[in-house]
Amino acid sequence: MTQSPRHLVIVGGTKGLGLEIARAAVARGDRVTVVGRTREVAEVEAKKLGENALAGVCDLTDWASLESFFDSVGPIDHLVLAALDRDQNTIKDFRPDDAARTSLMKNVGYAASVHYALPHLSPEGSVLLFSGLSMWRPMPGSTTISMANAGVVGLGNSLAVEIAPVRVNVITPGVVMGTEAVDEADPVRAETYERLRQRTPGKRLPEPAHIVAAAFALIDNPGINAANLVVDAGMHLI
Ligand SMILES: NC(=O)c1ccc[n+]([C@@H]2O[C@H](COP(=O)([O-])OP(=O)(O)OC[C@H]3O[C@@H](n4cnc5c(N)ncnc54)[C@H](OP(=O)(O)O)[C@@H]3O)[C@@H](O)[C@H]2O)c1
Repeated sequence: MTQSPRHLVIVGGTKGLGLEIARAAVARGDRVTVVGRTREVAEVEAKKLGENALAGVCDLTDWASLESFFDSVGPIDHLVLAALDRDQNTIKDFRPDDAARTSLMKNVGYAASVHYALPHLSPEGSVLLFSGLSMWRPMPGSTTISMANAGVVGLGNSLAVEIAPVRVNVITPGVVMGTEAVDEADPVRAETYERLRQRTPGKRLPEPAHIVAAAFALIDNPGINAANLVVDAGMHLI
């Protein structure tokens, strides 16, 4: 079902889960463009991935950079929007400017990316948006991320209708062990994650490879559209 090679453009592909998807895509014979805000970083990561990877630069809060990136990237089979500029915020000590930056990049920035990518997207292709379980299950400091992730699900529903026949799916990871965000969490969050792991059925949380496998299920299968796939090892039940 994979019909490789395809061209995957991964915004937020220079690090973390986006980079893991890029690595796995190259390994199975796809071409990838890994995209972040800094040319040097994107080029270093693309070079490590090998000859089937290219670097791209744009900032999800800068519409001109999105337009010029998508105008230069060529035909796209699958667009993956995995980027996140994290904001740790609470209502009690709310910092609106920090919240605005994260909401802007993850909501308006994701929508603007699809807008500029649309003329270049294959009708047989797809868009995959990253949300996160914090939209249902708040964590300490997740005020901004919780609302941004919920917005991604709403955007996914709207896009699935608006840009058909291009398929649009959302992936909602739980707490993913082995990512910098989780492994380098502050003590309060680390304690919350450990408590969640203990209470999750099977007492385990997902790992990057599980998110990658789920992402390919959504990207590859023409029968999956307008889905929100939760990959949290059952954490939403507790
Ligand atoms: N890690 C988890 O446990 C977890 C849990 C639930 C949901 N998620 C979701 O999964 C996705 C990936 O998470 P992650 O932890 O793997 O992220 P990460 O390691 O922090 O990587 C974030 C990526 O986003 C890019 N980025 C940040 N701001 C950007 C901007 N304004 N414009 C363009 N690119 C930007 C970064 O690139 P540069 O720095 O090179 O610009 C980097 O490639 C996110 O959407 C997150 O919400 C993650």
